[in-house]
Amino acid sequence: MPAAKNVNVLVFQSGGCTPVMNASLSEVVEEAGRRGLGEVFGAVHGLDGVVRDRLLDLGRRRTRGFWKSVSATPGAVLGSGRRSLGDEDVPAALDTLEKHRIGYVFTIGGNDSADTARRLSDGAKHAGKEITVVHVPKTIDNDLPGTDHTPGYGSAARFVALATMGVGRDAEAMGPASPVAVIEVMGRDAGWLAAASILGKREEMDAPHFICLPEVTLDEDNFLERMEDAYRRWGFAVAVVAENATTVDGPVAGQQEPFYVDDFGHAYYEGPGRYLAQLAGRFLGVRARFEKPGTIQRSMMACVSRTDHREAQRVGRDAVAYAMEGRSDCMVSLVRDVGPGYRCETATVPLDVVAGKVRPMPPDYLDSRTGMVTREFVRYAAPLAGRLPRYARLLGPGAESC
Ligand code: F6P
Repeated sequence: MPAAKNVNVLVFQSGGCTPVMNASLSEVVEEAGRRGLGEVFGAVHGLDGVVRDRLLDLGRRRTRGFWKSVSATPGAVLGSGRRSLGDEDVPAALDTLEKHRIGYVFTIGGNDSADTARRLSDGAKHAGKEITVVHVPKTIDNDLPGTDHTPGYGSAARFVALATMGVGRDAEAMGPASPVAVIEVMGRDAGWLAAASILGKREEMDAPHFICLPEVTLDEDNFLERMEDAYRRWGFAVAVVAENATTVDGPVAGQQEPFYVDDFGHAYYEGPGRYLAQLAGRFLGVRARFEKPGTIQRSMMACVSRTDHREAQRVGRDAVAYAMEGRSDCMVSLVRDVGPGYRCETATVPLDVVAGKVRPMPPDYLDSRTGMVTREFVRYAAPLAGRLPRYARLLGPGAESC
């Protein structure tokens, strides 16, 4: 008779944080409890905790109130990491699963973590162990294939939209002193986040006046033309640039050597923002600012989109449900309903669709002529970021003095 399947649960968080990644974790823990799975363990700092057998018992002595407050906490309460699963790590990882009688593994992460989930599952199969592996998507980058969008994106998009609106109003007010700003935002391989800077733009005069995405090769002359045009017309100019924007010659500012390469082979360069701000400042003969929110854009709880938070909880909850239905080696995906109004359901896609893959912005969301994004993109992203404020204006075209 085959041995009964283990019923204990292991969950870990991995990759760059999002403001709603803990909301997914809380729901995995709570749903596993509600559905009567066994003990729930959390690995500390992602895969590293699995390989080193550093687990926390998440079920014990935790009240419902505790998980509610986890859900509203930025970062990753279990600790995150960027360790990849090498062949040499597999035996240690499987030992940990065996020792704690783990039958269900939930990984909360992006495309690299999906790859880790797949390798772990393959390793277990190879060793003849029956382990259910379900991946819970998260990334502010929104670059996972197989899902309409990723939890984490809506909130970071909201932050970027609000930050751009604010920086725009500051540059507008300070026009005579410092009229130009370049904001550099994250999004390693795709421009989804930089594109979201358009979501608060209601009038032509509003920031941003130029968006630079990795999907569109940056033409410095075009950038300068657009900035000059905005400056001449409105008295200020704001550009939003993705951290890995490139020119035909490679990374912006001729930086060929990354200053760091991580476990997954991702190269880290000095971003293009400072260079572009200086370029525009010199060209226009004015003071130009460079703004880089860095991890603020993925940890600002005050900017969390309600839809995003709800969906992050939902994918965590549904991951447990799908696992108990017998689905494995898959990721929970978000599927948008066709029709008026915004609604999403969940489904699953095989890990192979996601692991190590990137989903760039589709061509119909990009307008390389103007250096902006299209209305189709706005229709797609606006419900994810939620309603944005309307700001008042006294100065600008048509303003009269007496
Ligand atoms: O993957 C998410 C992300 O936030 C990317 O946008 C960014 O390139 C990367 O993580 C940077 O994260 P870190 O500097 O923490 O490695």
